[in-house]
Amino acid sequence: MAKIYMIGSFKGGVGKSVSTINLAYSLAEMGKKVLAVDFDSQANLTTCFGVDDVTAIPVTIGDLMMAQIEDEAMPEPSEYIMSRNGVDFIPSSMVLSAVDSKLRLEMGAEGMLGRILDPLRDFYDVILIDTCPSLGSLTINAMAAADEVIIAVNPQLLAMMGLQDFLKTVSKIKNRINNKLQVAGILLTMCDARTNLCKVITEEVAETFLGQIRIFKSMVPSTVKVGESVYYSEPLIEYAPENKACEAYRNLAKELMNDEG
Ligand SMILES: Nc1ncnc2c1ncn2[C@@H]1O[C@H](COP(=O)(O)OP(=O)(O)OP(=O)(O)O)[C@@H](O)[C@H]1O
Ligand SMILES: [Mg+2]
Repeated sequence: MAKIYMIGSFKGGVGKSVSTINLAYSLAEMGKKVLAVDFDSQANLTTCFGVDDVTAIPVTIGDLMMAQIEDEAMPEPSEYIMSRNGVDFIPSSMVLSAVDSKLRLEMGAEGMLGRILDPLRDFYDVILIDTCPSLGSLTINAMAAADEVIIAVNPQLLAMMGLQDFLKTVSKIKNRINNKLQVAGILLTMCDARTNLCKVITEEVAETFLGQIRIFKSMVPSTVKVGESVYYSEPLIEYAPENKACEAYRNLAKELMNDEG
């Protein structure tokens, strides 16, 4: 029975999609059966999985959300789950941005993604949802579907700003919609432990949240190999398996799975 993790942030460009794909492959390397869900209309994760033309995909997460909204029959999983080198994924496209505005007018709107993913839990160990960086109806759907949230924070982008608002939203969703929701932890990305700024901000985050929220020991360093791996649509495990960032994602996967015992 899969646990569902949402990878979220309150800022764009902090490394959510990169973290989702690399965590997915690190978990797969540990023998876990993983499904990654691209829940962002930018479809960056889908591109990372090597899909060149997202407009040519017949069924994306946006189409599944539309089917839920319209109360239409759902396609078979084989029609929308794609696979690349041992990791399954549900692709995204611009259709999802139309869903975002439609959801605001719907009854029970926040439960739509959960209704798509819950039946898939039986087939996976872990489901990862990559999200867009706003606190809109799509992110709320992702929080309503998830068991745990991994918050990606880039210390260089004024880490603390917005984090409290994000946590407040998590707490509201927990109280009102999804009482099992937990914060798995804060993942520091593009964080070079040797730089002063990174040290200072990491300490600031640690002091503020000590005892409340875990900060993962694995921090992802900034490296050009990440940009290159994205360009070549390969996870770090294939593109640069010895790289420090790849090691960080392997360690993150272990940290997460150790929690499960
Ligand atoms: N550890 C890293 N080192 C260097 N560059 C990185 C690292 N992680 C991510 N990047 C780069 O930062 C940019 C943003 O990463 P990514 O797309 O994963 O962010 P995101 O949070 O998903 O963005 P969005 O909010 O737009 O969805 C990309 O160009 C990516 O190559
Ligand atoms: Mg992204």
